[in-house]
Amino acid sequence: MSAPQLSRDEVVLRLRGAGCVFAEEEADLLLASSSSSESLSAMVERRASGVPLEHVLGWVEFCGLRIALEPGVFVPRPRTEFLVERAVAIAPPGAVVLDLCCGSGAVGAALASAVPDLRVYAADLDPVAVRCARRNLDGIGGLVFEGDLFEPLPDSLRGQVEVLVANVPYVPSDGIAFLPSEARDHEPRLALDGGPDGLDVLRRVAAESRRWLVPGGRLLIETSAAQAPAAVAAFAADGLAAELARSDELDVDVVTGTAAVGG
Ligand SMILES: C[S@@+](CC[C@H](N)C(=O)[O-])C[C@H]1O[C@@H](n2cnc3c(N)ncnc32)[C@H](O)[C@@H]1O
Repeated sequence: MSAPQLSRDEVVLRLRGAGCVFAEEEADLLLASSSSSESLSAMVERRASGVPLEHVLGWVEFCGLRIALEPGVFVPRPRTEFLVERAVAIAPPGAVVLDLCCGSGAVGAALASAVPDLRVYAADLDPVAVRCARRNLDGIGGLVFEGDLFEPLPDSLRGQVEVLVANVPYVPSDGIAFLPSEARDHEPRLALDGGPDGLDVLRRVAAESRRWLVPGGRLLIETSAAQAPAAVAAFAADGLAAELARSDELDVDVVTGTAAVGG
C-alpha cells in the first residue's frame, strides 16, 4: 500500500522546519516534480537534510532553460547569467564556442539557445560533470570532452575558437570553509577551490588561451570584484587586451580578453 500523499502545508512545514527560506516556492516545485507519494516524501526528506533543491529536482533553471543536473555537479548560479550575457553580445552566428570548466554545460547551452548555429565545444575534468554536460549539449550537437582544461580537446580546434567562456573555480582555498553547507557538502571541492588567491585556474586558462583562439577571438571569465584587478593583470600578462564589466545587480565581474590580430 502506498504512503498517504503529503499535503502542500505539510511539505511547507517540513521544509520551513529544516530552515528552507523559500519553503512555499520549494514545496510547489517538489509537488510538481514528484511522480508518487513515495517519491514526494523522499524528495522532501532529501531537501530537509540539506541537499540543494536543484540536486533533488534534477534540474535548474538557467537563462530561461531547464538544465539537467546530477548530484555532485556544480549548481549553475544566477550570477553566471551575466557571463552568458557578455558572451552573447560578442558571439556571431555560427561561431566556434568553447565552454571550459563546463560543469553541467549550462553556459554553453544558454549561448546556443541565444545565438544561432553556434558550434559548441565543452570540457571538464570531472567525469560526472562531463556526463551531465553531454545530456545538456547533445541535443544542440555540442561536443563534450573529459580532462584537464585544454588537454582533452582535439588539436584541430587550435586557433579556431572565437569565443572561449570559462566559469572556473575561483573561491580562495581559505574561503571554502565559509561557504554555505549546500556548496561545501554537496558540490565537489574541484568545482570551487581556485587556490590561495582563487585565481590559479583563471591564470592557467588565460596563459593557454591564445593557442586556441582565432586572432581577435575573445576569452571571458567570471570573477569577483575583489579579484578583478589581479584577473585583468593576468590577462594582460598573457597578451590579451583586457576589459572589465561589472553587474552590481548580480554582484559579479566578467573579464573579457581579446587575442591580438597578428599577435
Ligand atoms: C565553478 S564550476 C562551473 C561550472 C559551470 N561552468 C557553471 O557555471 O555552472 C567549475 C567547474 O570547473 C571544473 N574544473 C575544475 N578544475 C578543472 C580543470 N583543471 N580542468 C577542467 N575542469 C576543471 C569543475 O569540475 C567544475 O565543473
